[in-house]
Amino acid sequence: MKYYIETYGCQMNVYDSRQMELLLQGDGHEPVQQPGEAELLLVNTCAIRESAEQRVWGQLGHYKRLKEKGPCRILGLCGCMAQNHAEGILRRAPHVDLVLGPGALHMLPQLIRRQLAQGSPQMDLAFYEEDFLDSSIARQARPSARRDSVDPVYPVYVAVMRGCDYHCTYCVVPRVRGGEVCRPPERICDEVRTLVGAGYREVTLVGQTVNSYRSDSVDFAQLLRSVARIPGLDRVRFATSHPRSFSSELIDALAEEEKLCEHVHLPVQSGSDRILRRMARRYTAGEYRRLCAELRRRVEGVSITTDLIFGFPGETEEDFQQTLDLMREVRWEGGFLFKYSPRPQVAADRLPDPVPKEVVSRRFQQALDLQMQIAAEANRPLEGTTVEILLEEIPKRTDSGLLHGSYKGRTRANKMVVVHPEDDDGASRLRVGDLIAVRITEARAYTLYGQMAEKAAVAG
Ligand code: SAH
Ligand code: SF4
Ligand code: F3S
Repeated sequence: MKYYIETYGCQMNVYDSRQMELLLQGDGHEPVQQPGEAELLLVNTCAIRESAEQRVWGQLGHYKRLKEKGPCRILGLCGCMAQNHAEGILRRAPHVDLVLGPGALHMLPQLIRRQLAQGSPQMDLAFYEEDFLDSSIARQARPSARRDSVDPVYPVYVAVMRGCDYHCTYCVVPRVRGGEVCRPPERICDEVRTLVGAGYREVTLVGQTVNSYRSDSVDFAQLLRSVARIPGLDRVRFATSHPRSFSSELIDALAEEEKLCEHVHLPVQSGSDRILRRMARRYTAGEYRRLCAELRRRVEGVSITTDLIFGFPGETEEDFQQTLDLMREVRWEGGFLFKYSPRPQVAADRLPDPVPKEVVSRRFQQALDLQMQIAAEANRPLEGTTVEILLEEIPKRTDSGLLHGSYKGRTRANKMVVVHPEDDDGASRLRVGDLIAVRITEARAYTLYGQMAEKAAVAG
């Protein structure tokens, strides 16, 4: 069948979609470029905030029309929202044919065959631990469907663990992804080597609390060191780190291993100890501050980014001010800011004192303005400096031979840099995945702009 996978949510979902893709290709299905061309349409969903689910509920009418009028024969809902609603998906959207949880991905080909044979909706929401550990998905796929046959697409993720053992009171992840399961280091290194063999020079290790990884005697710092030493790799990243699990050995690894990029995504959620307690985050604002100070002292040029939630139940003006104070003090290079979104069947669902909507909006906007100002100030000193970027996007040549689009890539500190092609006449030589030197001409809050520093600096 011709398939299309639409992916919402975090890096874990991007990884899972890729795994599903390998399975489908291994089973003889073929990718198409548009959902409207697909006979098999899979939607890999997210449940983290209500808005993430609303987006998919909103799309279901559109998918229904594709089934009525287009080639779509099987519509599948996969991932965290499928797990969150289970049978509720089929009640609300009877035109869905497959419901597949994030712990049962490898069942996909089987479910498709069963659906085609029986014509009735198929569902699997079990967590098949061994399969994830074994990473047998990549090996099941036919060689021609393996990653080595396609051009590199960055960023590329390798899941080192699944699920979460932290039970923050607002969060749906432990419920929809289950408890923490870590893959053995050999499997992870094997997968990274396969990617290197396919031409990848940078990988990002992912997990919900990636730094709490442990497999027998191997902890996350040791895993990172082993991955960073795989020949052929130039850069290694990881996300997301939980402050409570950030060991001094991990700081050592960051300070010492050359291939490890100087970027730590370290969600803090709030600057108020009272709110952090209610969230069950298991650290104080003071501990978080000290961790950042230590990271900045030990890891030269480190960039620290964060996540923040505004309007958690019971958040007072004073709690909010403490968050702003922490923002001014830590000065994160980047931040993802969220309004609190109540999730069903999590502990915070039962907490009293909801914050009125207009108060949440005001606090959110104020924090967003502050974060933007801080990020812009943090980036400004980069103007006039030369940085190394790994190209993730290159301009396309139009029929008339002109270049359309820009070069885009990330610095080691994970900052996006845009380079216009007119700045370089050797442009056509460059490929996705090349490391190039760029002189920064303008630094804004979220994006840097630059010029090719020297045409000969292409290291790829
Ligand atoms: N495992 C990561 C974060 C995973 S979810 C960690 O613990 O840091 C990504 C972000 O979504 C979280 O950091 C949090 O800021 C936000 N988030 C999670 N649940 C939320 C909710 N119910 N409402 C609003 N934001 C939420
Ligand atoms: Fe959710 Fe907390 Fe686990 Fe992150 S650490 S996934 S916020 S429960
Ligand atoms: Fe969303 Fe699931 Fe990731 S809820 S954030 S896709 S783990």
